[in-house]
Amino acid sequence: MTPSQTWQYPQLVAHRGGGSLAPENTLSALRAGTQFGYKMAEYDVKLSKDGVAILLHDAALDRTTNGKGAAGDLDFAALATLDAGSWFAPSFAGEAIPTLGAIARYTQAVGMASNIEIKPTPGLETVTGMRVAELAQTLWSGVSPPPLLSSFSLESLRAAKQAAPSLPRGWITDTLSAGWQQALAELECVSLHLKHTLVTKALIAELRNQGLRLAVWTVNDPVRANELLGWGVDAVITDAIDRIHPK
Ligand code: G3P
Ligand code: MG
Repeated sequence: MTPSQTWQYPQLVAHRGGGSLAPENTLSALRAGTQFGYKMAEYDVKLSKDGVAILLHDAALDRTTNGKGAAGDLDFAALATLDAGSWFAPSFAGEAIPTLGAIARYTQAVGMASNIEIKPTPGLETVTGMRVAELAQTLWSGVSPPPLLSSFSLESLRAAKQAAPSLPRGWITDTLSAGWQQALAELECVSLHLKHTLVTKALIAELRNQGLRLAVWTVNDPVRANELLGWGVDAVITDAIDRIHPK
């Protein structure tokens, strides 16, 4: 399968579900994305202690929930009692940490594509990559487009490739050090997910020559988003879902 056959994704992607309009990585975030016309969302997934795939950005619960310590130290039953909305605004009090299963159901019901960022608890890169890829394959069975799996962790992507080789993969990075082309080739990635400040026209041409797609994050200035799309960037991941409008 070539990247051009597997890439069927919208140009604009809501970061962490609903950008800056709702508590990140929650069902309300995805609903906000939908309300603003977004047809694709990026969100971060890791495992509870008992192996349930949940949406959460940080390794620790403290910033975005009323829990404390590492999410990976708690079983899902305990995580499910936490409030992942109040930190953002009182109107979101009681918002739960969603499972990947719940998000699969929601996104498929509204026809939203998914970019699942595999965000392992440190030390759990391989098991997280494997489990999330297996689950994504089951939860999105027969759904088009398939979820795009991405990660900063090459170890997680390697595990995802082994567990669900047919799901497209993207490597996320904020530095382009020597050998990045080899990493993408080894993992048979369809895309590079790059910090937008590192994008150059020459890089876009090089990726295109290799048949690779380019997603950029996190672009919150509408002028910059248009510039990058004009240069040929394939996807812009943004928090500014109220100011950057899908066509
Ligand atoms: O997927 C791209 C972007 O989400 C990576 O950064 O920290 O927001 O997960 P972060
Ligand atoms: Mg992310």
